[in-house]
Amino acid sequence: MKSPNLSQDKIKIPKHLAVIMDGNGRWAKKRFLPRKFGHRAGAENLRQFIRWCADFSIKYVTVYAFSTENWQRPDDEVQSLMKLIVEFFGKYNRELEEEGVRLQFLGKIEDLPEKSLATVKRAEEESKNRNRITLNIALSYGSRQEIIRATKAFTADVISGNREIEELNQEVFSSYLYTQGLPDPDLLIRTGGEQRISNFLLWQLSYCEFYFSDILWPDFKKNDLKEALMEFSDRERRFGGV
Ligand code: IPE
Ligand code: IPE
Ligand code: MG
Repeated sequence: MKSPNLSQDKIKIPKHLAVIMDGNGRWAKKRFLPRKFGHRAGAENLRQFIRWCADFSIKYVTVYAFSTENWQRPDDEVQSLMKLIVEFFGKYNRELEEEGVRLQFLGKIEDLPEKSLATVKRAEEESKNRNRITLNIALSYGSRQEIIRATKAFTADVISGNREIEELNQEVFSSYLYTQGLPDPDLLIRTGGEQRISNFLLWQLSYCEFYFSDILWPDFKKNDLKEALMEFSDRERRFGGV
């Protein structure tokens, strides 16, 4: 007999799930493979993961794919990641369409090489009317960069007379972030064993529940997601109240 608390109807579903997909390099190392094979396996897992999220009726998923700090990695690793973006959308655009996945990219994407930038812009444009699930991919993303960018944009609006300083509040500030229009994540999963944020969504995670898993990202499967959702369901969120 199935244990009752394993049935899906007992699971509280987050509206917005954020994921730090960490551990690709170690996954490859364990197999004596170059790191880029880990990234390929990680991309393959993301493709499945988005389907599992849709199965659980999660509306918004934001994944950390490449940070502003990841540009410091060796050239060949950065290059293979940039190539992987082009390959991924070439291969899976049709499938993402069938799944009703809307794509949005968060971050300083103007720093991407031309071909990768064109690919992500096209993927975003082509998917804008899909509405089963929204997949936000944080790419060349860093939260401190995002906050400084927002501050500059607000200041520019004040200088040009479009805004008054007094108008600035949490809601207005949020509208200058890459995540404008999205609800704040209610659950963050980080795979790969590290317990840190690594410059991801500092503002947006203020009241988010954190879930850390030792499983390396390419090995994180549907049942592992379900376990995270079950733990989330048992958390008591107080938002500073009693
Ligand atoms: C996460 O995996 C993916 C990216 C940062 C692009 P890593 O590449 O950080 O894998 P580990 O942490 O070295 O195992
Ligand atoms: C965070 O992982 C970024 C992504 C998963 C894209 P990192 O591997 O870059 O983070 P650190 O270096 O462990 O903090
Ligand atoms: Mg890592």
